[in-house]
Amino acid sequence: MSTENKNKKIEKSTTSSKSTVVVTKYQNVDKSKLLEKIDDDIQELNRLKKQIQMQSEENTQKMKELELKSTQIVTNWKDSTNAFWKDVDQREFRQYELAYDRVKVFYKEQHTKQTVAYNIQARINFKTKIRDKMPVWDALIKLNNLLDESDPDTELSQIDHALQTAEAIRRDKKPRWFQLVGLIHDLGKLLYFYDSKGQWDVVGDTFPVGCKFSKKIIYHDFFKENPDFKNPLYNTKFGIYSRHCGLANVMLSWGHDEYMYHLAKEQSTLPAEALAMIRYHSFYPWHHEGAYKYLMDEKDHEMLSAVSAFNPYDLYSKNDITYDIEELRPYYQELIDEFFPNKLVEF
Ligand SMILES: [Fe+2]
Ligand SMILES: [Fe+2]
Repeated sequence: MSTENKNKKIEKSTTSSKSTVVVTKYQNVDKSKLLEKIDDDIQELNRLKKQIQMQSEENTQKMKELELKSTQIVTNWKDSTNAFWKDVDQREFRQYELAYDRVKVFYKEQHTKQTVAYNIQARINFKTKIRDKMPVWDALIKLNNLLDESDPDTELSQIDHALQTAEAIRRDKKPRWFQLVGLIHDLGKLLYFYDSKGQWDVVGDTFPVGCKFSKKIIYHDFFKENPDFKNPLYNTKFGIYSRHCGLANVMLSWGHDEYMYHLAKEQSTLPAEALAMIRYHSFYPWHHEGAYKYLMDEKDHEMLSAVSAFNPYDLYSKNDITYDIEELRPYYQELIDEFFPNKLVEF
């Protein structure tokens, strides 16, 4: 039998089975009530049709609302009108005059030892080996043993600070990539367990090396002990750089920001704004004090507004609230998986 004939036969048998169903449904109905029965069925059919139509209209409306919401999140992520930190007393933070002695001791060492020569060597070390390979979440747990000696505002553990920052960003309905930045922005502090010489090359505010140290850098006086302070190659306004050369071409003091930026740039799908938040979040002389504007290029202005949108979450979320790590883990694991395609990250 040809395929055409076969198909015709199948079609015929399907039609005949349909009519059998109809016949079976109505065959025992009294003829006088048959019309009434069919009429009832038609009405029921119309009712069901209407119900399906209403549901689909409702679904379309819901989809439209969701779409609108997600656009609002994406387009307004820099808007801080209703941000949580508007109610925080901002004068309580970064009070270096009242800081613990450990903070001053830390900055004396950092300002003395962050030289051009050291920064070149640190970058060579970074690029020539892989220190560890593990999931991002495990790295956060590993980091938990570190107390940041440069931080005058908190003695909480690192994971508490990561979750406080991320949860504040999430509460303010910022995009998912922004929330992830909150979680991982300090993850580079892992460096402390690998190649660091102490905390001075891991934490603390950052600044360019290779040009004059701005007076707007915290504890500026401590730079007098830095060999680059007297080096004529490095102690002029532009030093080894040129006007508006762009911060991408500037060597910022080596530490967790720079380290994590390079990791995220290579191994995540985070957008440029997220990478800028990670790289510049400790560059307070720039994003907080307005120094080094003459090194910025056009793109840096855009990045500055991203870093400024992130900074209050890093700074003003520092409080005594601690979160249940295990309870929050599924949510953040999903975020990590969304932007880090490889489960194991090379640190
Ligand atoms: Fe940091
Ligand atoms: Fe932080």
